[in-house]
This record gives sequence, structure tokens and C-alpha cells, in this order.
Amino acid sequence: MSILKNSLNQSHDIVRSVVQEGDTVIDATTGNGNDTVFLAELVGASGKVYSFDIQEQAIEKTRGKLESKGLLQRVQLIKDGHQNLDLYVNETVKAVMFNLGYLPGGDHSIGTRGNTTIEAVKKSMERIPVGGVVSIVVYYGGDSGFDEKEKVLEFVRTIDCKIYSVMQLEYVNQVNCPPILICIEKYA
Ligand SMILES: C[S@@+](CC[C@H](N)C(=O)[O-])C[C@H]1O[C@@H](n2cnc3c(N)ncnc32)[C@H](O)[C@@H]1O
Repeated sequence: MSILKNSLNQSHDIVRSVVQEGDTVIDATTGNGNDTVFLAELVGASGKVYSFDIQEQAIEKTRGKLESKGLLQRVQLIKDGHQNLDLYVNETVKAVMFNLGYLPGGDHSIGTRGNTTIEAVKKSMERIPVGGVVSIVVYYGGDSGFDEKEKVLEFVRTIDCKIYSVMQLEYVNQVNCPPILICIEKYA
């Protein structure tokens, strides 16, 4: 087994290190529900997860997954774009996870888009406390193209360094566009 983990597992490690039982968090891209389940387990019965996706298919698959694990009570599934998260989330959230791209096993043309992702990341950054994180796993190449990656990477480099630390983690010698992890931590 390799010591270096992939971007998704790295994002889980970082989120796990900041989220505690009772916290409120956001899964900005529900998809097949794996990250929503991960977050629901982390926050425990006294915590709350808001989970967003624009596709009914993703919401319903995730609802089934949560129900079968007895986790549905602590999750609010929202069929709307994450760029509208301010319409649903008014409180502070400890972590926000983005897993960009399209629904695995679904329609590859319905993926996240640079402009709406950036809008949602900005709104997420406003809602995290000092010590909170926004993690973004960026898929690119293939059906995802490169446009969103370029826009998101360009945006995160402009984030105010007096308030947020921004880290970019990526493999530099792999083929087939391995996903990139961006992690934003509020420290002041
Ligand atoms: C790579 S998948 C997410 C995988 C998921 N985190 C999991 O654990 O299975 C990306 C998802 O983002 C959704 N999506 C695309 N645009 C969106 C938007 N503006 N707001 C919320 N979700 C969006 C897609 O429908 C797709 O289900």
C-alpha cells in the first residue's frame, strides 16, 4: 500500500482533523453520497450536514444510502446549485467539501462549472470560522475539460493571505490528469 494518498483521501484526512461531533458542515456536491455519508458520520447525531446537488438522481441515491445507514435525520438534502447555498445555510459551518466534475455513472455533460463553483467557494469561505476548512477536489481532463480547473486555480491564488491559507496538493508525475486537492483554511 502506498503511503501517499490520493486527493480524495487527503481531503478526508484534513476534514476529519477539524470536524467534531455536533458541528455543522456542507457537502457542496452530493453525487453518489459517499462524502455526505462520511460527513454525517463525523458530525454525529447532534451535528448537521447540508448536502447540495442539482440532480434528482444524486439526491435520491444519497437519500437511500443515508436511510440504510440510519443517518438521514442529520442530513438536509437540497436539490439546488451550491452557488445558492446562502438561501439555505445561515449559520457557521466547520467544513465545506467540494468534489468537482460529473456524477460517476451519470450524464457526463452535467458537471460542475467554474463560475458557479467559485461563487459557492466564496460563500463557503464567508461561513467558516477560524480553524474551519473548505476542501476542493478538482477533476479535469477527459469529459470534465480544463476550463473549470483553470478558473478555480486562478481564483484561489487571489484569496487574501492575511485571512486564509490556501494549499494545492497534486501529483506531478502521474498520467491521465490526477485530481488536484485545494484546501482553504481560515486562520484569522
Ligand atoms: C464528482 S460528483 C460528486 C461526488 C460525491 N461527492 C460523492 O461522494 O459521490 C459531482 C456532482 O456535482 C453535481 N453538481 C454539478 N453542478 C452542481 C452545482 N452547481 N451545485 C451542486 N452540485 C452540482 C453533479 O450533479 C455531480 O453529482
